[in-house]
Amino acid sequence: MAGGNPVVDVHTHYVPKGWPDLGPGTPSLRIETEADAVIMLGGREFRRIQADCWDAGTRLADMDSDGIGAQVVSPTPVFFSYAADVTQAVRIARIMNDLALEICAPSPGRLLPMCQVPLQDPDAACAELDRCMAAGHVGVEIGNHVGDSDLDAAGVVTFLQHAGGLGAPVFVHPWDMPGSPRLDRWMAQWLVGMPAETHLSLLAMICGGVFDRVPEALRICFAHGGGSFAFWLGRMENAWHKRHDVIGTSQCPPSHYIGRFFVDSVVFDERALRLLVDTVGSDRVVVGSDYPYPLGERPAAGLVRKASFLDEATREKILAGNARAFLGRNAPQDAG
Ligand code: CO
Repeated sequence: MAGGNPVVDVHTHYVPKGWPDLGPGTPSLRIETEADAVIMLGGREFRRIQADCWDAGTRLADMDSDGIGAQVVSPTPVFFSYAADVTQAVRIARIMNDLALEICAPSPGRLLPMCQVPLQDPDAACAELDRCMAAGHVGVEIGNHVGDSDLDAAGVVTFLQHAGGLGAPVFVHPWDMPGSPRLDRWMAQWLVGMPAETHLSLLAMICGGVFDRVPEALRICFAHGGGSFAFWLGRMENAWHKRHDVIGTSQCPPSHYIGRFFVDSVVFDERALRLLVDTVGSDRVVVGSDYPYPLGERPAAGLVRKASFLDEATREKILAGNARAFLGRNAPQDAG
């Protein structure tokens, strides 16, 4: 607990054990035992997973041991399926989202499902978001791009405008990192590709003029501390002024849009967390852990709890208050 309010972890993932086989081109699940399964992709093993992906009891026990009051439970991005045809992507999203409700049902105040949407089709994406928000999801997780389109693509902006109007928080997660033999070693797609992808998404939101076009009320959060964005804000700011002819498509320089978005805290290093708090603001950092995956932080929120530079009021905001602002009406209720 933090000041009586539940600590909220906004960045966790699930995989439903009841995932059906939907044919080639769609991730499938090979069940090994009661507690183990393998996500298969294109006939090869993509990731071995355990019961913490789907079992509420396991998750709740881990949350209790980590001191987490509530988890936002989001799809594992390999299921986004933005390259699939729209009919199939709609079907995948509906099954995923309905199964997320089942996973979270045992503890409605502590397991808060986020949906996925077929973002390659803005009308279908808006319709699925409407359906899910009415069904009990607390928001939506989207990938940071759709093929070669970034977050400034017209269809994505339409979707973000819709989410903003609906009051549905949006969590942006990198996925579909560029493929190259150079990125196939050392988990480079995860260690270099993901932070760069998220940085690119924020660049697209800013320089693509998205923040100028979506409602101020849109609540949007970027995974992994916003990737490499905070470290390179100064470089973008300089470029916006010096090469305005090339990148000056936003109404204002990049620093103007600080305050329009949240980032999570899963950066593992106190110096990085400090840079984040200094750069995006102490109101704009929320706890994320990337639970239950091995590149996540355990215990969840450990860095925020022990960071020596945070005063107690700021720590409380990052542990609980900021996530409540991000989630809005679907935030866990006050403990006191
Ligand atoms: Co993640």
